[in-house]
Amino acid sequence: MNSNNKGSLVCVGTGIMMGAHITPISRQYIEKADVVFMSVTSHLTEAWIREMNSDVRNLQHFYSESFSRNKTYSQMVVAIVEEVKIGKNVCLALYGHPGVFALVAHKAIEELRQDGIYAKMEPGISAEDCLYADLGIDPGKFGCQQYEATQFMIYSRQVDSSAYLILWQISVAGDLSFTKNSSNLDNLSILVELLSKWYPLDHQVIVYEAQTLPVNSKRIETVALKDITKLELNGHSTLVIPPARELEINKSVENRLK
Ligand SMILES: C[S@@+](CC[C@H](N)C(=O)[O-])C[C@H]1O[C@@H](n2cnc3c(N)ncnc32)[C@H](O)[C@@H]1O
Repeated sequence: MNSNNKGSLVCVGTGIMMGAHITPISRQYIEKADVVFMSVTSHLTEAWIREMNSDVRNLQHFYSESFSRNKTYSQMVVAIVEEVKIGKNVCLALYGHPGVFALVAHKAIEELRQDGIYAKMEPGISAEDCLYADLGIDPGKFGCQQYEATQFMIYSRQVDSSAYLILWQISVAGDLSFTKNSSNLDNLSILVELLSKWYPLDHQVIVYEAQTLPVNSKRIETVALKDITKLELNGHSTLVIPPARELEINKSVENRLK
């Protein structure tokens, strides 16, 4: 932590499996901070983080279905930055990796650094790391593209179907209000239609959920692309689309390299 009186921020990840994935350095930052902010819904996880520090504050109360998640994230950043600016050494503990498909840590660090205040991020084990281990995927074998599902839908993209495609936040794909917590079947149908530009409708895709607690288990469910509308999806679901065609050699570059 920073020793001057300006306060500091360290953003850490607690990993995906409660208690098992946290790194020693992240645990130390949580234990030594004046204030720890977290954003967790599980009582078990909350109790586990509270054991490490006596001043732990849950940011969950900022979420509301009546306004966009962007507003929620801005309010969280304000709450964190305020504590740092009154001179506290603050730790923001988020599940997974604090900077992977997670805005708040990046924004808080950026804002504090602009004011010359010490702020940094420690890496954590993300859902992506678990996915590679559980599904036996090496992203270096065929390549791997990944997008937030709604962003993937609303921007024009060129998908390389010879590589893996991972879509995050699949349960709220297409929710332009950024307020929802559950799937909308019409939006998922639009996603299927969009993906059918690159993949056959019977292409086998995987809904993946890593194990988060010793008492639950992982989910690896393989279905035809056209059937993702029939599945139960939740906030922990990630869609994995394996390659649908072989890698193609770029002859002209290969010849030049020879
Ligand atoms: C806001 S992002 C946070 C990701 C997190 N920072 C990380 O490092 O994994 C939430 C998305 O991560 C993915 N995710 C979170 N938990 C997961 C889990 N247990 N298994 C699979 N994917 C998960 C889902 O796509 C979910 O919609």
